[in-house]
Amino acid sequence: MAITEEFKQELKSRTDIADVISSYVQLKRSGRNLVGLCPFHNEKSPSFSVSRENGFFYCFGCGAGGDAITFIRRIENLDYVDAVKLLAQRAGMTVPEGPSDNGMGKLKTRILEANREAARFYHRMLYTPEGRQALDYLRGRGLSEKTIIHFGLGYSPRDRFELVNHLKSKGFSGNEIIQANLANQSQKGYPFDRFSDRVMFPIIDLRGNVIGFGGRIMSDIKPKYLNTSDTPVFNKSRNLFALQFAKNKANGQLILVEGYMDVIALHQAGFENAVATLGTSLTQDQAMIIKRYCDEVVICYDADEAGQKATQRAIGILRPTGVKIKILTVPNGKDPDEFIRSHGQQGNARFRMLLEKSGNDIEYRLEKLRGIFNTDIPGQKVEFLTKAAEQIAQLDNPVEQDVYISQLSRELDVEKDAIKRLVNKNNKRNYREYKKEEIRQVQLDLSAADDRLNKEKRLNLRGANAEEAIIAMMIYDPDTALMISKELSADVFVTGFNRRIYEILKKRVDSGMEISPQDISGDLTEEEMGRVTKMLMSHPREKSPDTAAREYMQVLAEQSERLTPEQAASADNDTIMEQLRRLREKKK
Ligand code: UTP
Ligand code: MN
Repeated sequence: MAITEEFKQELKSRTDIADVISSYVQLKRSGRNLVGLCPFHNEKSPSFSVSRENGFFYCFGCGAGGDAITFIRRIENLDYVDAVKLLAQRAGMTVPEGPSDNGMGKLKTRILEANREAARFYHRMLYTPEGRQALDYLRGRGLSEKTIIHFGLGYSPRDRFELVNHLKSKGFSGNEIIQANLANQSQKGYPFDRFSDRVMFPIIDLRGNVIGFGGRIMSDIKPKYLNTSDTPVFNKSRNLFALQFAKNKANGQLILVEGYMDVIALHQAGFENAVATLGTSLTQDQAMIIKRYCDEVVICYDADEAGQKATQRAIGILRPTGVKIKILTVPNGKDPDEFIRSHGQQGNARFRMLLEKSGNDIEYRLEKLRGIFNTDIPGQKVEFLTKAAEQIAQLDNPVEQDVYISQLSRELDVEKDAIKRLVNKNNKRNYREYKKEEIRQVQLDLSAADDRLNKEKRLNLRGANAEEAIIAMMIYDPDTALMISKELSADVFVTGFNRRIYEILKKRVDSGMEISPQDISGDLTEEEMGRVTKMLMSHPREKSPDTAAREYMQVLAEQSERLTPEQAASADNDTIMEQLRRLREKKK
């Protein structure tokens, strides 16, 4: 699809950001802005703000921000073009079809096409003599024909050129195949298949695109699974295996397991709400996605030590989203796939029993504590109660707290009031610590994000601040933007990140195009959009933008003559003397 400038302008004029966001977030008026609870992190008091007049949103809590398109990208997990399509449909516009004109969009499309062709190729291979062993392997693991087709499983041939040659015959270039991570590049520069002699699991996103693969070796060779590395269309930390099926079957609940095979076995047994991470541990992005599709998640990791550690970790990541958490422990150290298979026809019924028995995570934590302390010994009983009270205090709901307090009181024959006092002591403390932790985390996130996007900022805060003010003023005021763009060279910018943003703005201004948040959203990533919006929030409109802009340009000019600490460290004497001379000149 070609998104033309006119199309973007039309979309902008027809899109009211407050309207768009109101479909997802309850907004209340507050001064010139609208505020609500941020949908991108868990919070109890609103730090999410929407400016209708400026066409952007920003969250002071987590730093998410941008225009209406950025909002849709994040909340619907779509790429730029699809977010534009969705907004256009909403505005009653028809989206022009045709080849995309932007380079990155085009490469993404080609990668998706290559992936789809590869998935077909791998699947067909299963039914050739060469793939026979793989088909037998899958059947041997209890998978039916229907399941193999449903998941589009396949086989990557041993010969490292079969897929590459096939894709080339279909018109894909070596570069496209390498960018898709379907092939690696040899030292001599030619591509050879990344996956060889493995059972292939295609990874499919919510729109049905094949975005990557996992490949399992059929012997004991390591690594057991090889996965697609991140590519322009694949991000391991933002997708979940089988979510495209599970989201329609969730009905309020998702089951989170560790492995591809666990997911497939569960789906085959009738639990089509199972998903898995993609070879990494659970991320915050994945937790937010899970929260979007269900109210309750059942964590069902391996019973071994690593699995238990991963469970604790996942609880910590899921809890802040507010989703209800249950833990299902499969008996006898089996993983869900092994458990289901070992029960044959009874697999579904037996797993359902485990599901019904699975407690919420507090029960899981209490059970762990019971395993550590021997409550027959008075000293350990007190220790157990102290630790248990800490856990109970973490429950938000006082009724739920009371349930566990009563349960412990019966179990240990201790006065209910005594346990309650212990819990209450922790309630207050936990709250304070929780607040402290939450604030620290936000600060960490923000400063970490700062470092990632604009590493040079800390080296010259004053200069970077002037740059950000200049960028904000350009976006707010077209006349100021013209003036700045005429008079300010990108060379004086002291940080590369801001320089790049400025160059994007300047290029548009110089060719007579607009630069509202929505106009530039296509040139920036979501994270970068968030940063630009932050600049807008921290530098509100000025009464006389031209004068203010000139002052900031002056500051920037001075700052850009300064040596950064790094330059100073490596500068020769002449440079330093020259710099001092110039500074003295200025003083006069
Ligand atoms: P498991 O080793 O539990 O795999 O790893 P599994 O799914 O039970 O595999 P089978 O039953 O032996 O076939 C869980 C998940 O961790 C990732 C994969 O996503 C796997 O499904 N993993 C594991 C890797 O990415 N690489 C590996 O080498 C191993
Ligand atoms: Mn397994």
